[in-house]
Amino acid sequence: MSESKETVTRREFLKIVLTGVGACYAAAIGYPVFKYLASPAEQAKVLSAVKEVTLKDAHTLAAGSVLMFKFGSRPAMLIHHKDNSWVALDAVCTHLGCTVAYQPERDVIHCNCHGGEYDARTGKNISGPPPRPLRAYAAKVIEGGVLVSRV
Ligand code: FES
Repeated sequence: MSESKETVTRREFLKIVLTGVGACYAAAIGYPVFKYLASPAEQAKVLSAVKEVTLKDAHTLAAGSVLMFKFGSRPAMLIHHKDNSWVALDAVCTHLGCTVAYQPERDVIHCNCHGGEYDARTGKNISGPPPRPLRAYAAKVIEGGVLVSRV
């Protein structure tokens, strides 16, 4: 009787070991696939495939305010300036990649990570460590929204 119990225990043990081995194999195969799909090269490919984004209802954005959105996989911002001009810029700091924020009271784009600042009309880097301007997109008010596209 006790022999039978021991056999069942061994089977269960073997089942657990094989399940663990199977999980390790799945992880060993799945992780590189996941890393490939999430690699910067793949992300850049996805990003370059996106040519334009329609921001539905964004034309109602109040002057002097900002709308954050995604252009492909990248954070971006649409600014409606008080003079009624529209500006769309990439929102990834060119220093070390933090997401930047529009400060309407100062009319600048600020990066909290190291204090970098950009011109809110052109995206030009104006102070702090950022080495390059923010990428600019074309922004056009259309019926029912704003069309943002690559320049
Ligand atoms: S990451 Fe923006 S200033 Fe350093």
